[in-house]
Amino acid sequence: MATVQEREGQSVYCESLRPQKSLLLCEDGTHTLFSKEFNEPYHSTRDGALHESLEKHVKPAFTRKQHQKEVTVLDICFGLGYNTFATLYYLKKHHFTTKVHIVSPEFDTELVRTLYRFDYPPEFDMLKPVIEKISRDFYYEDAQFKIEILPGDARETIPKIQEKIDIVYQDAFSPAHNPLLWTKEWFSDLRALCHTDAIVTTYSTAAAIRLGLYENGFYIFIHRAEKMRFSTVASPILLEGLEYIDMELKKERNRKARSLRDVDFR
Ligand SMILES: C[S@@+](CC[C@H](N)C(=O)[O-])C[C@H]1O[C@@H](n2cnc3c(N)ncnc32)[C@H](O)[C@@H]1O
Repeated sequence: MATVQEREGQSVYCESLRPQKSLLLCEDGTHTLFSKEFNEPYHSTRDGALHESLEKHVKPAFTRKQHQKEVTVLDICFGLGYNTFATLYYLKKHHFTTKVHIVSPEFDTELVRTLYRFDYPPEFDMLKPVIEKISRDFYYEDAQFKIEILPGDARETIPKIQEKIDIVYQDAFSPAHNPLLWTKEWFSDLRALCHTDAIVTTYSTAAAIRLGLYENGFYIFIHRAEKMRFSTVASPILLEGLEYIDMELKKERNRKARSLRDVDFR
């Protein structure tokens, strides 16, 4: 059984965000938050905030994109910024010179403004100036990286994006607690932005979520990593080196399975 240590009230950061959020220690030694509003942690405490970002999102995506000169990432949603910061950490650590533009919606602007005080792991020490700038300006740019946070509701900001996307980190709160960021219509908006060889990474392995992706023209794959529950990778093209899921067969075997629809939650 996973141990979850809730350390409510132990840090200045936490105090300032009470009562909506409390600090959690994950099993990989990194910290995340618990959202009382969504009744859910920002990361799986069992998989670990940094470990989860690297293994479920950054590595499966960049293994296939790191040789591209330029990559645009859509990070859904920014939260504590682990996925964005883990991307910078990973590329810098491996001396990849890929130019990366990260666009990330987030409606909790109060959270973003306090991130410079968050207790990030030592791996992010080199990113302190980046984190401080993001916290202050919701924007960062240097010769290799450009990061833009889009304040507001992702359902409104996403359709306005002009750029084509290479990678989507689909990392919203769970479908049970934040269904509007997992519907067939949401995935349709994402698909409209994606290059034909885009990669979508997500922790969700639910049939309804895979169906929502599949119904928008994504092939579905299982991603396995060490010390990690398996997750989902999706792409408009067939990808090598991943376990392909035959969704037609899944539909035949599970005739009751349905994708989520906006109309059920609005
Ligand atoms: C699970 S957390 C994201 C964790 C983040 N990827 C990270 O690595 O730290 C989900 C985030 O989605 C944000 N959010 C939820 N619904 C949203 C919406 N409709 N528009 C914009 N942001 C939203 C929440 O405020 C929260 O910060």
